[in-house]
Amino acid sequence: MSTYTQELSTTARSMVAAGKGILAMDESKGTCDRRFEKLHIPTTEERRRTYRELILTTPDLAQFISGAILFDETIRQSTRAGVPFVRVMQDAGMIPGIKLDLGAQDLAGCAGEKVTEGLDGLRDRIAEYYQMGARFAKWRAVIAIDTSIPSETCLAANAHALARYAALCQEGGLVPMVEPEVLIDGAHSIDRCYEVTERTLQVVFEQLRLNRVAFDKMILKPSMVISGKNCSVQASVTQVAEMTVRCLRNNVPASVPGIAFLSGGQANELATAHLNAIHAQFGSQCPWAVTFSYARAIQQPALDYWHGDDTNIPVAQQLLYQRAKLNGAASKGQYTPELEAA
Ligand code: 13P
Repeated sequence: MSTYTQELSTTARSMVAAGKGILAMDESKGTCDRRFEKLHIPTTEERRRTYRELILTTPDLAQFISGAILFDETIRQSTRAGVPFVRVMQDAGMIPGIKLDLGAQDLAGCAGEKVTEGLDGLRDRIAEYYQMGARFAKWRAVIAIDTSIPSETCLAANAHALARYAALCQEGGLVPMVEPEVLIDGAHSIDRCYEVTERTLQVVFEQLRLNRVAFDKMILKPSMVISGKNCSVQASVTQVAEMTVRCLRNNVPASVPGIAFLSGGQANELATAHLNAIHAQFGSQCPWAVTFSYARAIQQPALDYWHGDDTNIPVAQQLLYQRAKLNGAASKGQYTPELEAA
């Protein structure tokens, strides 16, 4: 049993506390720079730092955000006034989390498929991040859908890595967020997404079990069961909620304390509406706490408004607060589209 048994349970429960979700702000340098480039924001460490300070110092964010996932560069940074970001979060009552994977690379022999890297030296990295104040972590596997993929090879390789990561996290005191992202890209139907998500979850939980991961001390971060972005028939909000809950009920043990969805490129308001419908219409069927762990669907309006101009920070923070608040409402089934106008 891990030295951290009690702490892991407490952290996992706090991450999915009622009315709160987890903010993903762990874009790697490359991903963050690509998002900045689209808005012609200089891709410097200083701009990345300022943007992350904007997010973390948003007044009252902790009302709806239990914790935030940081990138390696970010967890080492401080505010302009010199307060470490980890300290800012602790003082505000938000749990620091850390992205542990080192990104997805082409999977040998499997055209169009990726495997996530980062296991080598992971025990030592976990020890360092724990010492810095991190209490949970994230590892993202990417599963693409096309007519003949995902292959079992891709599912097995990614699930194995997720499970090895999760076991190391629990040994070292970090609650693992296990993120198998089934991509929204493509023209596939929602039925095909269901089938792929189901098989992915089966393989992931097989590997978690084999690697002795404690299900009650982890958080699952899945994608929703949803129509492919280019599918000519887009499923309704109710259908997404119903099929997502059905798929999770059939494949995720009830001992998992929490499920926190990624947004995966869904439009902001739709990501909120889907989470809301899961609660409002199917909440009674969920044995786990169910919430959000969005990056784009929370950050995008704030990033667009800030645009690299620091005079825009106060309004950008209000926009961030607004999306966090609406998703907080959705995590209790209390969101309505009219709230968007408020
Ligand atoms: P999105 O909500 O933008 O999909 O990001 C969540 C995340 O953490 C991806 O790894």
